[in-house]
Amino acid sequence: MAQFHREMRRPGLDARLAQAEAAGFTPTPDELAFGARVAWRNSTRCVGRLPWMALEVRDLREVTEPADVFAHLLDHLRDAFAGGAIRPLISVFARGVRVLNPQLIRYAGYANADGMVTGDPANVNLTEFLRSLGWAGGPGTAFDVLPVAIQSGTRVELFDLPPDAVQEVIISHPDCPGIGELGLRWHALPVISDMDLNVGGARLACTFNGWYVQTEIAARNLADEGRYDLLPRVAAALGLDTRRGRTLWRDRALVELNVAVLESFALAGVKIADHHTVTRQFTRFEAREARAGRDVRGRWSWLIPPLSPATTPVWHRQYDDREVSPNFERVPAVWDTPVVSGCPFH
Ligand code: ARG
Repeated sequence: MAQFHREMRRPGLDARLAQAEAAGFTPTPDELAFGARVAWRNSTRCVGRLPWMALEVRDLREVTEPADVFAHLLDHLRDAFAGGAIRPLISVFARGVRVLNPQLIRYAGYANADGMVTGDPANVNLTEFLRSLGWAGGPGTAFDVLPVAIQSGTRVELFDLPPDAVQEVIISHPDCPGIGELGLRWHALPVISDMDLNVGGARLACTFNGWYVQTEIAARNLADEGRYDLLPRVAAALGLDTRRGRTLWRDRALVELNVAVLESFALAGVKIADHHTVTRQFTRFEAREARAGRDVRGRWSWLIPPLSPATTPVWHRQYDDREVSPNFERVPAVWDTPVVSGCPFH
């Protein structure tokens, strides 16, 4: 409250403090919007914080029916995608409401009898959890979009995302058709739904999005051995000799997969950042914060990109990683949480 009144130059702090003292602190719509933007500004792991002031905040604290929450989430997806222009947006929920999926758009991971996984291995537990809630399963491709589980009080309901709510980009490479033939795709929007917004001690469930940096998709999601593990197939498509590590076939495949993701998003007209641009923007963010008299906290290991980190300015800097409030705080997945009193939703 004090930070809000100070930074926004609002009068009436004493009256507001007295009122919150008497009635308990429930953020006003203005305090909520400010708190959400500052929570982004304070996110130590985020390298894309320069536009924090432009975060659009949707106050859904009046919405409690899962079907109504889902309708608002579809609005969120449409408005955030904005025809490819992508707007950073956050929807804040009522007490007791939460999305149980870690992101709104996630691809299924099906554990096969032979120990292999079809789809995204990161989502095997989520997929099994959704099956336990009654999901019949998808067609079994590597990119089946999972339904969304919405909890309200002790009720949990499942909702299928209609295809037009899930914008995806088909991945091809400008001069290696073999990469396009791998049948790869990724969704346009990262919409985080497993972090609470902590404003002045009030913890509110929410979902929020920005736009992707291509390294998230091409250097981690599609490349990690514990994810889609595609570097061997990309290297094969490039005709590289994969027998010896010292030919750097992994590195070469990685660079071309990153090129493919950037070019494919550009071709589809979907906003995406590259690691060179976003890290330079981050140094502008640092300069701007310094001029405003604020220090920037950061977790260096999260700020550096997983591709060519030493070519970016962030590599050569140091950051204080202590957390400050308002902020976003990760909520453990319900399927990882010990069951209390027989009901997993308490
Ligand atoms: N790394 C996560 C993913 O690949 C998304 C995290 C948020 N990213 C962002 N650009 N806002 O899905």
